[in-house]
Amino acid sequence: RFTVPLRITVIGTGYLGATHAACMAELGFEVLGVDIDERKIEMLAAGELPFHEPGLPELLKKHTQSGRLRFTTSFEEAGAWGDVHFIGVGTPQKPGGYGADIRYVDAAATSLAENITKDALIVGKSTVPVGTARRLATLVQERHTGPGRISFAWNPEFLREGFAVKDTLTPDRLVIGLAEGDLDAEVILREVYASQLAAETPMIVTDYETAELVKVAANAFLATKISFINAFSEVTESVGGDIRTLADAIGHDARIGRRFLNAGVGFGGGCLPKDIRALQARVSELGLDRTMRFLTEVDEINLRRRDRVVSLAEEVLGRLNGATVGILGVAFKPDSDDVRDSPALDVAARLFNSGADVNVYDPQGNANAAKRFPRLNYVDSYVAAATGAQVVMLLTEWKEFKELHPEDLDGLVQNKVIIDGRNVLNVREWEDAGWTVAALGRKF
Ligand code: UGA
Repeated sequence: RFTVPLRITVIGTGYLGATHAACMAELGFEVLGVDIDERKIEMLAAGELPFHEPGLPELLKKHTQSGRLRFTTSFEEAGAWGDVHFIGVGTPQKPGGYGADIRYVDAAATSLAENITKDALIVGKSTVPVGTARRLATLVQERHTGPGRISFAWNPEFLREGFAVKDTLTPDRLVIGLAEGDLDAEVILREVYASQLAAETPMIVTDYETAELVKVAANAFLATKISFINAFSEVTESVGGDIRTLADAIGHDARIGRRFLNAGVGFGGGCLPKDIRALQARVSELGLDRTMRFLTEVDEINLRRRDRVVSLAEEVLGRLNGATVGILGVAFKPDSDDVRDSPALDVAARLFNSGADVNVYDPQGNANAAKRFPRLNYVDSYVAAATGAQVVMLLTEWKEFKELHPEDLDGLVQNKVIIDGRNVLNVREWEDAGWTVAALGRKF
């Protein structure tokens, strides 16, 4: 029923879709990327990536040049050509609400169903409220009037920005949600992921609801882990103690593990914050009001870290109004140019709104930050950010900031004060050089 090798389309060409499309081409499939944004499609077709992601530009160039990876805005073309259609469009937080806005997923599924003219498998990848897959599986059958039979599966994605290519080519696990007894869909997805399966990647085959929930459970757990250590930061700040040592010590217990226990200015990005809110909203809709209430605390602890770093700046400077602050990092995390819900950008904007002059340098994030908050003074090096500042604040732990030594900033910063919002500096080294280090999770 299907073409050999399988022809794959990927609907949505943001982080998730563009990465998936390029990686599928790398695995040897013919791939068509689809998006309604004409400008994005033009760029991608020319082999240019509209965002920063290590390793992805090379794959994109290689496969657009070989012709194995093409791009289009036409669902008609996609529906007539593809065997397996992945949906990887965004599910942002609803404007003015907590729930996820799934209109783009609905639109993609509907457009596919209306345009598919051969046997096909539609596979949802986006992060969605539980219940979406089952609803879409029905919707797709209702909207499909052309020839061919459509199967529907859910296959959540766990890639991290900054490691997107690696996480797609060699994931920790694959999760597939199927309609009961849909063995055809399973066989096709085993074919799509043959190289991962050959490398013994675990594949969990389950129902739609479990597959959808695995994704949000994973992100909720990660967010909780970060807020857990950040809550202890509040305690060590109050009584004394060192949060990094505490994290190292509990992390040695294999049941706890050291990863995602880095205390600092907290989590941001396009996923963790909105996913924990959407999960609470969905679970409340289901009448389980209390069940995910702890995530409200997780969210609040996270946001309080931003307040704390702003108040640290105020304590150090006496007053923010009229002060000059040098900010190192605005991306929500290193190796990314993404500033969505970025703690660093939020802090920079608040300092500005309190009357400070704010110099900002991020190795990749300046342009996106300037679109959201144009009034900061964006500069192109850490030296320019620090020059003339009364205090420097490290808010995103890029490698070049983690490797800073006191002599790199000597003579640039007026007060020899650095605020370490990510707990990455060697405090002893800076203090020995006559600096004051104000770090989150340490008494100041
Ligand atoms: C996250 C998940 O890690 C991915 O598995 C998931 O696929 C993705 O969301 C998604 O849903 O699409 P990502 O948003 O790329 O990935 O970023 P993370 O690496 O998870 O970092 C999230 C935030 O947590 C960052 O702001 C980071 O600075 C912060 N963080 C992370 C900490 O503050 N402390 C830590 O110990 C770890």
